[in-house]
Amino acid sequence: MVNERLLCIDLGSAYTKVAVRQGWSSKAEVLRGLPAFSSGEDSMLIPTVVALDERKSPPRWIVGAAAAGTTGGVGIQVFSDWKRSLFATEAGAIANSGLTRKSALKIAGAFLRELRGIVHKEKPELADVPVRLTVPQLDDVQPPDEWISALLDGAGWRPARNRAALTEPETNALGVFSRGLNVTWIPPQQDHRGPPSRQINMQRMLDPRLARPFRHMREGFAVLTTDVGAFTTDFGYIWFDSSFRDDRWSEPVVRQRSVRLGIHELDAAVLDLLEPAVQRHFKAGPRVEWERRKRELYAGNSQRVSVNGRVMEIGADFEAESIRDQIKQFADRIVRARDRFCSALGITAVDAEAVTGGGAAIETLRARIVGHAEAHARTVIDLRSSAEPEHATAAGAGKFTEAKRDRRLSENAELVRTASAIGGASVFFE
Ligand SMILES: Nc1ncnc2c1ncn2[C@@H]1O[C@H](COP(=O)(O)OP(=O)(O)OP(=O)(O)O)[C@@H](O)[C@H]1O
Ligand SMILES: [Mg+2]
Repeated sequence: MVNERLLCIDLGSAYTKVAVRQGWSSKAEVLRGLPAFSSGEDSMLIPTVVALDERKSPPRWIVGAAAAGTTGGVGIQVFSDWKRSLFATEAGAIANSGLTRKSALKIAGAFLRELRGIVHKEKPELADVPVRLTVPQLDDVQPPDEWISALLDGAGWRPARNRAALTEPETNALGVFSRGLNVTWIPPQQDHRGPPSRQINMQRMLDPRLARPFRHMREGFAVLTTDVGAFTTDFGYIWFDSSFRDDRWSEPVVRQRSVRLGIHELDAAVLDLLEPAVQRHFKAGPRVEWERRKRELYAGNSQRVSVNGRVMEIGADFEAESIRDQIKQFADRIVRARDRFCSALGITAVDAEAVTGGGAAIETLRARIVGHAEAHARTVIDLRSSAEPEHATAAGAGKFTEAKRDRRLSENAELVRTASAIGGASVFFE
């Protein structure tokens, strides 16, 4: 094990999340309340938006919430959804967002450099903490450890030793099932052997509702997470051997895949339903406006928008129906991808399943994916349900006092959006 402290940057296509682990056995925590973050309950989400203001010399890079609030125009360019071009073939990069891979790398470098400035200014104690970055696990993209390391280094971060890049499906699954817990120990010295090395205590790192199979020494325990992001949907499957037949139970089997199927596609389909003038209004306006409006639209609430001085209603009546249909079709594509992932890997039984990501915040979408999971897995860990603590108790997590129940619910709300960052900061990867 090499890194005692660690920062994990989950570079999301829409929102970046940062988690830190301060010691070998410390709980991983998400960073909140930095100026680049949105306010309120979203204060852990940093819009992955970059603006380049060239109206004055020298040009100025702007990132996060400030960039998401910026309108592009003469001398000022705004870049969002550029992550797709980082993880694409050269031709794919341009087709996706009009950016070459080289330009996307430059934007990523600027984002990471500015983010570093903000994090280190607000939290100088984190200045020398090594960093890992999470990346999608795509079939057609080579493992990017080397260039991710160079990217972090070029932006002034200290890349973590061992691995600088971790894959999102795996970190997400680990985040959900450990809830950020980290437990390590050093076995006692044995005669005639070298000094024992630090090891993880996987059993104590699992959410108590998942630890029960270990107590019962069942054959094995399989967990599956579906993370619906803006760019990819990530499937992470972890199988723990809980039979204790050998001492390899702390080395679970991991299967994972990212699929280019994200909320961005749903957004494009929904924007297409709106009147051309409204589409142009949202495309030209600051990112934050579409973000705010679409949350209402996807929740079924119509909106009044001022477009070129004219007030227009969007998301009413037949538009509301069509948006709902689009969400349902998108959900069907996700559950089909989930089933394909399982059948390709010969996964026949899932003990516990969870849904995370921004997609889990869209109720119609979440309900359909959770419904599908309920029909296919023994238990569903529904992180957005207010009854989750009771379900956890029924699954063997013990009873929660009222205060602990409240804490678990707010932890669930955080976890559903930040599990990749939390899991990526885990000692599991040391
Ligand atoms: N309440 C909501 N209603 C509608 N959409 C939402 C809501 N909350 C989040 N989203 C959308 O979910 C997406 C963000 O999800 P998430 O943060 O999981 O993606 P990401 O991690 O940035 O993307 P990826 O992991 O694919 O790179 C955004 O498109 C965001 O607009
Ligand atoms: Mg994500």
